[in-house]
Amino acid sequence: MTHDTTTATTLVLGATGKTGRRVAARLRLRGVRVRTASRSSPTRFDWSTPDGPHGWDAALRGVTAVYVVPPPVPGPVHEFVARAEAAGVRRLVLLSGHGADDWGDSPFGLDMRSAEDAVRGSALEWTVLRASNFDQNFDEDAFHAPLLAGELALPAGAVPEPFIDIEDVADAATAVLTEPGRHAGRIYELTGPRALTWAEAVDLISRASGLPMTYRQVSPAEYTAALVEEGWDKDDAHHLAEMFVLLERGVAAGTTDGVATVLGRAPRTFEEYVVRAAAAGAWRR
Ligand SMILES: NC(=O)c1ccc[n+]([C@@H]2O[C@H](COP(=O)([O-])OP(=O)(O)OC[C@H]3O[C@@H](n4cnc5c(N)ncnc54)[C@H](OP(=O)(O)O)[C@@H]3O)[C@@H](O)[C@H]2O)c1
Repeated sequence: MTHDTTTATTLVLGATGKTGRRVAARLRLRGVRVRTASRSSPTRFDWSTPDGPHGWDAALRGVTAVYVVPPPVPGPVHEFVARAEAAGVRRLVLLSGHGADDWGDSPFGLDMRSAEDAVRGSALEWTVLRASNFDQNFDEDAFHAPLLAGELALPAGAVPEPFIDIEDVADAATAVLTEPGRHAGRIYELTGPRALTWAEAVDLISRASGLPMTYRQVSPAEYTAALVEEGWDKDDAHHLAEMFVLLERGVAAGTTDGVATVLGRAPRTFEEYVVRAAAAGAWRR
């Protein structure tokens, strides 16, 4: 099958999310035709609804490459890959988590590991981007509200985390999606340039924002209970707590040269992120 690159479309899943919207913007800037998809995007896409008027086949029509943000449950990516192959897609780029080979018997990340199995088992040109915890979790996700309230309490102690700036994840995804062949069959472990403890991260944010913020270590059970108290679904709370149990094993604490391998430059520092986000008012009360 031949593909006309002037009409080739890249499908971005999770397009309203932290990485998807950044990947879509970068691709558009490069002149790539982009189809943004999620439950609330212009192209409707729901991992739980493969068929029907807004089913996956419609989203995949005319698509040559897909940025895949895994669904929150194991399973659906296998069927999605089969449909992508049938639709003539040539390239899949999957977001996953740092060190996934070493997660062992942890109940964390079964969604990402299942998605990896599906993508890596496909006949297409695939690449997996395994990212460590995002810097932006502190201003765009779960850790933002606690920081604004003055205290972040997590089940994490002295094991450091090599936080990565999501802008680097998006740069890497864009490179892989637009450089045919070079990244086929590769798994890139993407981390920031330095690992720091969660307490150090909070201290840097507190200093740059000028707001008093403290860090407190709690047990996984306490953390789960606090999330449920805040209104989280019990399974989601348990899943996030299990991530910290896994991280405390130290299996994902090391830095890698993944960003440099893909992009030919060093990853952004956590300090750069903190200054940028503080200046943009991320932690203004
Ligand atoms: N946060 C981290 O530090 C980190 C690190 C490494 C890997 N990851 C992995 O990255 C993934 C999340 O990526 P992200 O942070 O870019 O996204 P995100 O900000 O968590 O947003 C999730 C995206 O998925 C869409 N979505 C949610 N449920 C859906 C469904 N049932 N069907 C279709 N789309 C759905 C959402 O849009 P709609 O609501 O419009 O559907 C949204 O666009 C997760 O798999 C996570 O495990 C996260």
